Amino acid sequence: FPLVAVSVVLAYLIGSIPTAVWVGTSRYGIDVREHGSGNAGATNTFRVLGAKAGIVVMLVDIMKGLAASSLAVLLFLINAIPQHDIVVFKLILGIIAILGHIFPVYVNFKGGKGVATLLGMALAIKFPVALICVGVFFIVLLISRYVSLSSIIGTLAFPILMTVPVFSPGEPVLVVFGFALFGIVTYTHKKNIKRILNGEENKTYLRFKKKS
Ligand code: G3P
Repeated sequence: FPLVAVSVVLAYLIGSIPTAVWVGTSRYGIDVREHGSGNAGATNTFRVLGAKAGIVVMLVDIMKGLAASSLAVLLFLINAIPQHDIVVFKLILGIIAILGHIFPVYVNFKGGKGVATLLGMALAIKFPVALICVGVFFIVLLISRYVSLSSIIGTLAFPILMTVPVFSPGEPVLVVFGFALFGIVTYTHKKNIKRILNGEENKTYLRFKKKS
């Protein structure tokens, strides 16, 4: 049990790493929370500091979810949890990392919206399904040009795909927690949703713009 408690704290600290804030302030002297959408995430880093910084933040934030979730495998390897609990612990540790990302201890609990870290967790739990969710994200992005809407729909795709037996034999816990995470991500995007409804949300053409 103490090892489980240690990994819970570790997952939170890993998730808490405020990549967007640290990359912005240390490399560019800019706090992304004071620009663009004000969000401490990969999307806003793209927007404010450009593709290079955005990709770094995105990859690190994905790694945070992947690493935190993978602590479950470590717990299994040192006999702290039984094999059939690995998935549940991947979920619990991943969700704690996501909450760490949203409420980071290092920067006054004002973090990002949790999407990249959630993707990292999903990759650790169901790699192919996570890739399909990324595909859904890009399809919605291509159609709507809203990163926020694409994030929300991509997140929703996970529990829906988990109801398909071929992806999830006997793992209803992934459906339940998947919908819970969809709830969390919808909550963190509440300002974006308001802006979309008011026609004020920023659209992105970055990835698809032809060079001239
Ligand atoms: O993952 C965050 C993204 O969905 C929205 O970011 O900066 O447009 O609020 P932003």
